[in-house]
Amino acid sequence: MSVLLEVKSLDIFTGARRLVSDLSFSISAGERFGLIGESGSGKSLTAMAVTGLLPRAIRAEGSITVNGQQIVNTPERVLNSMRGRDIAVVFQEPLTALDPLMKIGRQVAIPLARRLKREGASADRAAIRRGVLELLDHVALPQPERIMKAYPHEISGGQRQRVAIALALACRPKLLIADEPTTALDVTTQAEILKLLDRLVGEYNMALMFISHDLPVVASVVNRVAVMQQGRLVETGEVNDVFAAPAHEYTRSLVAAAHAFDAYFGEAL
Ligand SMILES: Nc1ncnc2c1ncn2[C@@H]1O[C@H](COP(=O)(O)OP(=O)(O)O)[C@@H](O)[C@H]1O
Ligand SMILES: [Mg+2]
Repeated sequence: MSVLLEVKSLDIFTGARRLVSDLSFSISAGERFGLIGESGSGKSLTAMAVTGLLPRAIRAEGSITVNGQQIVNTPERVLNSMRGRDIAVVFQEPLTALDPLMKIGRQVAIPLARRLKREGASADRAAIRRGVLELLDHVALPQPERIMKAYPHEISGGQRQRVAIALALACRPKLLIADEPTTALDVTTQAEILKLLDRLVGEYNMALMFISHDLPVVASVVNRVAVMQQGRLVETGEVNDVFAAPAHEYTRSLVAAAHAFDAYFGEAL
């Protein structure tokens, strides 16, 4: 499999403070990769660095290539032309991806029209309407016609996350980054969104970088994991190996916590 994303010796700083240290990993086309770690371990900063969206006060050093194109210290103008084409992101809080004042149909139409034009496909009103309805249907939203005309505050949190996923899919990215996509949702909705992501990654043949503080959640959707602690990678491996025989002390504590949770709540969850 060809390498899609390659992160090499990545450091992330704010002023003199180092927030991420010497991070290296890669994701192949179509691969499902999980990034795990406690809150504050540097997962979101890593995702932002990969998309070239680090806040102004934060600086990256090292190398991040997407399809061979360098991201670190690349001018905004170049990054802009790449965005959405190779990588799309789904965040923890769907409202960060949605404009509260714009109907959902129009919001999905914007990245869809951009992609259709790029591909030289028809992007007239009828084609876009059809594409938007199809995307809303793909993310299993009920009554796509109604949702299309709704504003974000008129639908539930789980439905908003489905819309945010539809926005990402509209770009047909080669890599989907999902940064704690289910953390803000109740347990039932969480399971539904996980199942949806699992299905869509297969259907769209995307690679997935799934970020979570929750090892069992990650393990249910990815094949390979990397574990971060305090800005450093402490362990990487196949999910089953890491679960069965965690090498690092921190990973062992995550696995023990997951088993304790299972023992308490049973297999019902
Ligand atoms: N804009 C910022 N300015 C300064 N420090 C930040 C900023 N964003 C994140 N950090 C710090 O970087 C570390 C990693 O943050 P983050 O990547 O968001 O962690 P995670 O996503 O794993 O919870 C934390 O210590 C956090 O306080
Ligand atoms: Mg985070």
